[in-house]
Amino acid sequence: MPYEFEPIGYIETPFKERFGTPRQPSLVPSSWGLLKLRANLNLYGSLEGLEGFSHAWLIFVFHENANKVVRAKIHPPRMEGEKIGLFATRTPHRPNPIGLSAVKIEKVETDRVYFSGVDLVDGTPILDLKPYLPSSDCLPQALSGWTGSRLERQIQVEFSDSALADLRARTGDQAERFRAAIKELLELDPRPVFYRGTAENPNPYTDLYGFRFDDLNVVYRMVGTLATVTEIQDWRDFKAATDR
Ligand SMILES: C[S@@+](CC[C@H](N)C(=O)[O-])C[C@H]1O[C@@H](n2cnc3c(N)ncnc32)[C@H](O)[C@@H]1O
Repeated sequence: MPYEFEPIGYIETPFKERFGTPRQPSLVPSSWGLLKLRANLNLYGSLEGLEGFSHAWLIFVFHENANKVVRAKIHPPRMEGEKIGLFATRTPHRPNPIGLSAVKIEKVETDRVYFSGVDLVDGTPILDLKPYLPSSDCLPQALSGWTGSRLERQIQVEFSDSALADLRARTGDQAERFRAAIKELLELDPRPVFYRGTAENPNPYTDLYGFRFDDLNVVYRMVGTLATVTEIQDWRDFKAATDR
């Protein structure tokens, strides 16, 4: 029997595409998100009391899954090519494409909540929001399965002087917040396994990458395990130039 749910709202984040969206919320603590409750659901007062909690669970729909095929075994990025059962992973490609993220609450207003440390694409439909309860949700004795021995890949990140100047020109007093989030993102090497290659055989296709972050196009070059952000363009200028 199917069940139908309506989103309680949609979250606004700087992640406009799946590439460059963090793989888990805690990995990019400087990222941000704003959830506005839908006005027509008559949820006035539903956020009262939430301000006393530091973190919340977001339950959401992976609405941007491009590939609708669900496979029983998948290749998580951290396994560098090996396969594992989908229920032993947090893959977006699940029989019911529902995600779960523990995020930090920054501010609660009547009809909206500001978060940091989010891993959701801009416009993601939120099905539910629940307070994170340290007394029952924090399990220090929990085992981390196959992920324990497969730490997230860490790469070095630098910004060229001209990229920093671009960033300051485009984001003003928000430049440091943007720089921190972009740096944390790139340190985790967002490239799909296919594009990473290996230490002995680096990706033969390209060493130049770009992704959209908020209204910016971030361009970076990979040399070994060093990512250098070389340019930060206005997204509309970049789009207009490439659509020409
Ligand atoms: C590995 S999932 C983990 C999400 C959540 N923390 C969980 O465990 O269910 C995170 C990835 O899902 C993808 N993603 C995020 N929001 C999405 C959306 N609305 N639709 C499709 N994919 C999304 C992004 O590529 C992101 O890197």
